Amino acid sequence: MEKIGQLIHAATLAPSVGDLQPWRFIVVTKARLLQAVADSCPYEKWLYQAPLVIMVCALEDKTETYYPGKGREWAVQSCSAAAQSILLKAVDVGLAGCWVTSFETSKIKEAFHIPDGVEPVMMLALGYPDESPPKKKMHPFESYVFFNDFYASSTDLAVFKKDFGLHFRNKAEDLQQRAAYATSEKGSVRERMDAISDAIKRTFSRKKSDSSSKAHDHHHGSAGAEHHGEHGHKEHKH
Ligand SMILES: Cc1cc2nc3c(=O)[nH]c(=O)nc-3n(C[C@H](O)[C@H](O)[C@H](O)COP(=O)(O)O)c2cc1C
Repeated sequence: MEKIGQLIHAATLAPSVGDLQPWRFIVVTKARLLQAVADSCPYEKWLYQAPLVIMVCALEDKTETYYPGKGREWAVQSCSAAAQSILLKAVDVGLAGCWVTSFETSKIKEAFHIPDGVEPVMMLALGYPDESPPKKKMHPFESYVFFNDFYASSTDLAVFKKDFGLHFRNKAEDLQQRAAYATSEKGSVRERMDAISDAIKRTFSRKKSDSSSKAHDHHHGSAGAEHHGEHGHKEHKH
């Protein structure tokens, strides 16, 4: 119970649009309802075994009244921030979690009596980890970190071919040229980019060696990179 309180507290510290805090959390612990949760999913039939599921619901209507045309999107973004905080806090307190979205919304609304204007947007299955999954395979960071320009990243053609979607893959040569241009501008840009890039590389390699030793401090709100290194300690339920 104490831990559930900590998870919800962490969630409510998340940023939200206009500080509307457009979220509601349904803490699901009853076997009958956990079964209903599992039944609402096409694949995650294991959910009935979860000791705890937190259903995150977005106050879409409320957000829409403040931000016409953006209600759903911004309520969901706020809920996503809260959901991620729950997952980070879960690791902090020795739990593990899985974010699930593939449920049938109408079934969940019915089972939990969720009113119109409020939408269940993700659920978090939580429990004590009973396995140590293999370390998470990361994409090369050059393929997703860009400096000051969408194309200012790796100039390695293989990266463009491998790590972008089909649309980009067909234009790999084009992209490579744009990347070369973006990163060659006046030399100093290139130097700064290299310095930042080196710093990121150092962080990643430090995290790699850290993750082979015992778990270290997990601070709420710490950088994403902190958590990449910790996947080796986290349960994967799917
Ligand atoms: C928006 C979103 C939707 C997801 N939906 C599901 C889902 O429906 N079922 C599931 O088993 N996992 C789901 N996941 C979890 C991802 O599969 C998981 O985060 C990914 O495989 C990476 O694994 P990791 O989080 O353990 O690093 C979802 C994650 C996100 C962020």
